Order: sequence, then C-alpha cells, then structure tokens
Amino acid sequence: MTGRVGLVPTMGALHAGHLALVAAARAANDHVIVTIFVNPTQFAANEDLAKYPRDLPHDLELLRSAGVDVVFTPTPDLMYPAGFQTWVDVIEVAKGLEGARRPGHFRGVATVVAKLFNLTQPDEAYFGQKDAQQVAVIQRMVRDMNFPLRVVVCPTVREADGLAMSSRNVYLTPEQRAAAVAVPKALRAAAAAYAAGTRHPKDLREIMMSEVENEPAAALEYVSVAAADSLVELELPTDVPLLLSLSVRFGTTHLIDNQILPPPEP
Ligand code: PAF
Repeated sequence: MTGRVGLVPTMGALHAGHLALVAAARAANDHVIVTIFVNPTQFAANEDLAKYPRDLPHDLELLRSAGVDVVFTPTPDLMYPAGFQTWVDVIEVAKGLEGARRPGHFRGVATVVAKLFNLTQPDEAYFGQKDAQQVAVIQRMVRDMNFPLRVVVCPTVREADGLAMSSRNVYLTPEQRAAAVAVPKALRAAAAAYAAGTRHPKDLREIMMSEVENEPAAALEYVSVAAADSLVELELPTDVPLLLSLSVRFGTTHLIDNQILPPPEP
C-alpha cells in the first residue's frame, strides 16, 4: 500500500467510541484498516470470552459507512496456530490496576497488538483513553520494541449521562445501567476536589470511594491515584500529571473509567 496507513484494532461490538477512533484515523491517513478479533489470550478462564458481544454484519455495515478501506477479521487459529509459544510481556506498567485484577490480561493484549502491528504495518495506531492502562502498556511496548509507528490516543466517548462507552455496557440490566453513572460521577467529584485544592492522593481516593459506596448496586474493585506516565500508585501529593482510575462491578459486569488531571498551575 502506498500512502499513510492508520490502524484501529478492535474486538468488534462497535460503538461510537470505536467510530471516533475510525474517524480520527480516517482524517489523518490515506488508508484505514480496522481489525476485529476477540482475542482469547487476553481473557482469563473465568472471564466473558464465550459471551463477549459479537455482531460482525452490523460492525461491517458501520465500518463501510465510516469509509474504512480494509477490515481484517482473523480467526483464533490464524493468530495462534498450533505450536504458538512467543509472548510479549510488558512488566511494570502492566502490574497494578487491571493487571492486578486480571493476571495475564496485558500479556495477551501486548502479544496480539504486536502481531496486528506486524501484520498490518501501520504508520499510526489508534486507541481510546478509556483503557488507560492498555494505552500505557502499548506505548511502552512500541518504545521498547522499536515499532516504527505512532500511537494516537483519542478521548473517551461518553453517553449523555457521562457513562464511558464500552462494548460491555450491553450486559447491564436497566437498573445497573442507571446505577453505573456512579463511575463517572466519582471521577468528576475527585477532579472537582482537585481543582478546588485537594491534593493528597488518599483524599482523592476517598472521594471516589464514597461516591461509589453511595450506590447500592455498585461493588468497588479498586480506586487509584497514580502517576499518569508510570502508573505507580501515589502516596503523597506531587506535581506530576495524575491518572485517577477505578473499576466497579455491577452484578457480574466490570466497568472501568479514568481521568487524567494535569499538574496544578504554579
Ligand atoms: O481494546 C481492545 O478492544 C482490545 O484490547 C485490543 C486492543 C483490540 C486488543 O485485543
């Protein structure tokens, strides 16, 4: 292919968040490739691989309307043929947060994304800020492994009430969907407190925790205030950009969300 290639890796069940990545890739590149592959190696045995939402005809229709040039939909056998035994393991940034909650998850993500980069040879690859740790893992892998491409991170796309768009939102019952607004609310409350001068990570974590605990349908998995670049959990106030993040379970559905807070004005 001549011209610049933008890649949008996805697991399908496309929503407005994916389409925003496609639009950004379309605007900046001559060719856009979207991959749809529900990657088995990033799901643990107890996770939702079998029931992960899939609707290829609808996805293809959306991608056709969005002007995508190539849709690559490999099978698990093609990506992981018999004898497969090579993994990409990003160590430190994959340790905490979702990495602690989902052991092995980021090894699966890094491995499949490395393979998709090699198969499609993009100039740019597009990912959503919603999966902040996934972005950090991929950015680290690209630097460490000298992939000749630029990672482009696009803002989280939200529903009208603030809930971050996610393919997993379809699992929520109407009651859980209403309760899930507690997740962005917790981030907004901590961000507002930060803007008003609350600097201690412990206080910011407590603000997020109490917002979630006020919602009876929500079960908190973790809240975090970490350095945005290293994802190291912070114990003391600091001037580096912060990543506020949390994982909350509604029934059997885990939702994650995050917000970056730039350092305070001097
Ligand atoms: O974010 C996703 O949908 C997946 O983790 C990705 C990046 C496509 C890898 O399977």
